[in-house]
Amino acid sequence: MPTRADEPTPVVSVRGLRKSFDGREILQGIDLDVMPGETMVIMGGSGSGKSTLLRLMIGSIKSDQGSIRMFGQNICGMEEDDLNKIRLKFGILFQSGALFNSMTVAENVALLLQEHTRLSQEIIDIQVKIKLEQVQLRNAADLFPAQISGGMKKRAGLARAMALDPQLLFCDEPSAGLDPVTSAQIDRLLLDLTKKLGIANVVVTHEMDSAFTIADRMAMLDKGRMLAVQPKAWFERIRDVPDDELPSLSEDEQLIRQFLRGAAEGPLSERMSESDWEQDILGARRSVPGMRSVEPSRIVPQTEDEGLLQRLRRMLQA
Ligand SMILES: Nc1ncnc2c1ncn2[C@@H]1O[C@H](COP(=O)(O)OP(=O)(O)O)[C@@H](O)[C@H]1O
Ligand SMILES: [Mg+2]
Repeated sequence: MPTRADEPTPVVSVRGLRKSFDGREILQGIDLDVMPGETMVIMGGSGSGKSTLLRLMIGSIKSDQGSIRMFGQNICGMEEDDLNKIRLKFGILFQSGALFNSMTVAENVALLLQEHTRLSQEIIDIQVKIKLEQVQLRNAADLFPAQISGGMKKRAGLARAMALDPQLLFCDEPSAGLDPVTSAQIDRLLLDLTKKLGIANVVVTHEMDSAFTIADRMAMLDKGRMLAVQPKAWFERIRDVPDDELPSLSEDEQLIRQFLRGAAEGPLSERMSESDWEQDILGARRSVPGMRSVEPSRIVPQTEDEGLLQRLRRMLQA
């Protein structure tokens, strides 16, 4: 695809992406570019396809049609080994941090460095300290996830997502499950870190305050269709159009305005539990017959993604 010489290459470029489940088309031909260093917020009501799009982009499910170029390589139809290499180039912030409960915060952050680099333990320790400092968690290094608050778990998850210095981060509902003050802190931290480090950030959220705080550009999904991909200022303008000027807006713009003014996906009606989200994003269906009261993060999700599954298994055995 021709791009102007002065335009940087997108870190993620989605074209004509289609995905059906059980004969129902969930994504109906999605186009989306994410540029280096920008925060792209994906919005849309419940069931609009946000998580499906995210799962396709991180390679945890396969598309039916279309392409997803990540760092210039099409990941659709890619062999699992190659996909795993690409996966090392981006971080994912899971809703609850997806920390391993049997490991300390520091050990959680160190995992990927131990698995995927040849750095000495000494250097890894230093790296971990730097990551924890970046998320203001130096003092919690030796605590276990059960001993820290929801906001701290999320910050630890962020430190882990950034362990391998990715240029790209994916976050699904980063402020879900947090009180407003903590959630605003997470937003500020995300914004601060991604801007300082030049990391592109793809964020799925239905929380408008959060979206308007962190976004450079926004994308609005509705029933598997992309209504608009525009700079934040464009969405602010649509949101603030007064009632008497409604007829000047297109049908899609009116839909967008309605969504921006009164989120179609309410926090009370549709909020998933933290473990549901992990299950959701991993494409996993959790069922552990005969087991009771198992901690969610000790269960290996059943995902279609064998590479990810193996990694998780190895982590759990560690
Ligand atoms: N693995 C799956 N099997 C069948 N249907 C699915 C699956 N994943 C998602 N869906 C359906 O796709 C639609 C979009 O889901 P999702 O991407 O999770 O939406 P959102 O994240 O915007 O709420 C929903 O109707 C959901 O039920
Ligand atoms: Mg979702």
